[in-house]
Amino acid sequence: MITIHDLRKWKSEGTRWAMLTAYDFPTAQILDRAGVPVVLVGDSVGRNVLGYPNELPVTMDEMLHHTRAVSRGVERAMVVGDMPFMSFQASTDEGVRNAGRLIKEGGAHAVKIEGPQLDLIHRLVDIGIPVMAHIGLTPQSVYGLGGYKVQGRGEAAQKMFDQATNLEKAGAFAIVLEAMPSDLGAEISKGLHIPTIGIGAGAGTDAQVLVIHDLLGINETTPKLAKKYADLRGVMTEAVTTFVHDVETGAFPDTEHSYS
Ligand code: KIV
Repeated sequence: MITIHDLRKWKSEGTRWAMLTAYDFPTAQILDRAGVPVVLVGDSVGRNVLGYPNELPVTMDEMLHHTRAVSRGVERAMVVGDMPFMSFQASTDEGVRNAGRLIKEGGAHAVKIEGPQLDLIHRLVDIGIPVMAHIGLTPQSVYGLGGYKVQGRGEAAQKMFDQATNLEKAGAFAIVLEAMPSDLGAEISKGLHIPTIGIGAGAGTDAQVLVIHDLLGINETTPKLAKKYADLRGVMTEAVTTFVHDVETGAFPDTEHSYS
């Protein structure tokens, strides 16, 4: 099984690696068997699977439900469960309890937390729960940030760099850098001993993450920071349309798919 020690070793060797999101059992199995070392059950499940307009409505129960399904599909990869909006913001104690639930009930090996939650990260690391941090464009703060905008431009770059350093000091084992200028992503990556995982943060980060629905082309649109490696929406539409046509014309079921 992949552990936080492997990731630290890869950082010191300069070995680059990939993280992908998964929200269900078969997708987790495919990613695991394809050699993806870290699978994130992101709160992006809200937009990509549950039909919510953004990440904010996602609940702990929904995260647990999807994390359990992913954990059942994985043999080698590290499973990281995302802490949803308002599962940790109101109090550190609540954050500790909810992180514990993702590990204990969800089967995750680590949790991801948005923003500079230094006290909470300290406490979780103290009790043995590995934490992946997440800074830059943090979707749970979309209203506070005034929309899905690139972060860390100009004077904000130093603040972002300091946040990353403080998160490393607090004990985070890795840090997601989302939507920031490429040179800042590279600078933060060079300045830290823990791996950085970029999404829209340029080629200078230690790892890259994409949302699986963006990579596979399942959604109607693909954000600028993601690359569509397949057109599953097109493949699925064609298969479904052909099935409907076959049923309507009597071509399905044929003798091969019928019992005598
Ligand atoms: O929820 C998510 O999928 C994420 C990744 C995009 C990093 O936070």
